[in-house]
Amino acid sequence: MALHAEAQRIAAEFEFTDTDVNSNVAEFIAQMKEGLEKNATTMSQIPTYVTAVPNGTEKGLYLAVDLGGTNFRVCSIDLKGESKFKLISSKVAIPKELMVAKTAKELFAFLAKQIELFLQEHHNDHFETHIRRRQTVSTPEGYRDEHIFNLGFTFSFPVHQIGINRGTLIRWTKGFDIPEAIGQDVCALLQKEIDLLRLPVKVAALVNDTVGTLMARSYTSPGKTGTLLGAIFGTGTNGAYVEKLSKITKPMEGDYDKTTGEMVVNTEWGSFDNGMKVLPNTIYDEQLDKDSVNPGIQMFEKRVSGMFLGEILRIILVSLLKSPTISLFGDDDSASNDWHSTSEIKKSSPLFTQWGVDSSILSDAELDNTEELGVLRQHISRVFGVISPSLEDAQAVKTIAHAIAKRSARLAAVALGAIVLETDRLAPVVSSHPGPKSTSDILDDVAKFKIADAASATANKLADTAGLTVNDDEIVDIGVDGSLVEHYPGFKDYIREGLRAIEGIGATGERKIRIGIAQDGSGVGAALIALVAAKMAKPTDYLGDLRRAAALAEDIKA
Ligand code: BGC
Repeated sequence: MALHAEAQRIAAEFEFTDTDVNSNVAEFIAQMKEGLEKNATTMSQIPTYVTAVPNGTEKGLYLAVDLGGTNFRVCSIDLKGESKFKLISSKVAIPKELMVAKTAKELFAFLAKQIELFLQEHHNDHFETHIRRRQTVSTPEGYRDEHIFNLGFTFSFPVHQIGINRGTLIRWTKGFDIPEAIGQDVCALLQKEIDLLRLPVKVAALVNDTVGTLMARSYTSPGKTGTLLGAIFGTGTNGAYVEKLSKITKPMEGDYDKTTGEMVVNTEWGSFDNGMKVLPNTIYDEQLDKDSVNPGIQMFEKRVSGMFLGEILRIILVSLLKSPTISLFGDDDSASNDWHSTSEIKKSSPLFTQWGVDSSILSDAELDNTEELGVLRQHISRVFGVISPSLEDAQAVKTIAHAIAKRSARLAAVALGAIVLETDRLAPVVSSHPGPKSTSDILDDVAKFKIADAASATANKLADTAGLTVNDDEIVDIGVDGSLVEHYPGFKDYIREGLRAIEGIGATGERKIRIGIAQDGSGVGAALIALVAAKMAKPTDYLGDLRRAAALAEDIKA
């Protein structure tokens, strides 16, 4: 019983009430605004130089690569128009030692090599003709753009962007740490290694994964409504949205098309509230931060994204294991263990290693709703190295894991809701067909149901019956991607519950927000941006710019 009570007590520390949601939204909006006005703010609000979202008619063959977390992906995307595409891709795990390599070259040479292998395997015809041409055609600056693949480089770290294919690294996140790369142009670093391998590839666009998600969702999403926001809830978390150019008042260096009056802004919301004015905090969050490679940074991300949730759980479980009054994984009397065994934790348990626990255990815990929690107990045995965990052990893990994930989803709602409000996308309430009650009566009824999930279904039904439908042009479309939002059961539902709690959104506004998975954002989205960039480039444009930047960087180093 002591374990049960302690698990409940800890879970309560992770409660993130409706009042908390609203105070966080207000602060989020304030920090968004600050980031649009000044440089070096807590939320970077990076202008991306992408000034329009696609409409599904775009066509062409492009390459895209994605460096952002655990894996490096290379793909080719054949955009067919009509919102359709064909994608071929390959993926390799990034060797851990390269994430913390001494030089940037080590990492970027590895990336270029993967592009070479991909081209050889999947586009050999194209590849060989280019290699032959490369040997016969030469200009002082290399071969011409029209003979090469345009590549969208999805690089999912905070970058100070100075053009569509130029950007210097601000800081590493998600466990990467190669200090030498900070301040360098990551496109030039990649182009240099591509050139050393003499590959027919131009780094045409630099893309954050959230921007790719936004573009991909806009290309594929149903209806004519352009997507407002692309968000990632995976290893890391972040969002990019379409902002009015007039609101971006801080200086922007590069050239861009001003005719649309808009630009996609990469918020880098992972660093929302690094000053900890409003974010929830527990001793477990504090310990995670203190022991991380970047203490005091990415404080929002450390409470929301997949890389950190398993670690928060691990820290809590270790603290319980140390408690003299609590018995976790230590049922030493077989009579009190319903599996008629005694439980024991192995000395080699991953629980005793920092980052030893993958966040997928949170999904496993949420998925098992049986009385005996048999499947979860098998996962606990396998993942934590515990022999015969008891039912009480599993219940404690489930209670705590649930609380950590639910707080994460409600924080996710803060970010999405704040952007919907800041961009003023919720037009005045829904349209209605005359029904037996007045519209405002019905809306009042709907509002009454705003708290619980089941109630929301009732509210939606009520609104539907009364003819309170949301028109296509009232929909606010959001594209999301990442392991957490894809695989954690109910993550989206908790986000929606959080959205309903936000003043200014409520049940009525939440019904207008469409959240859809936008897979392959880093592939399709990057290809779309490479397409835009290629269209912008002048026909006589050589790779010279990038090469000069790379040479300049070398000179500065020397
Ligand atoms: C990075 C972002 C990225 C996000 C999701 C964060 O750690 O700072 O640039 O978009 O992870 O991958």
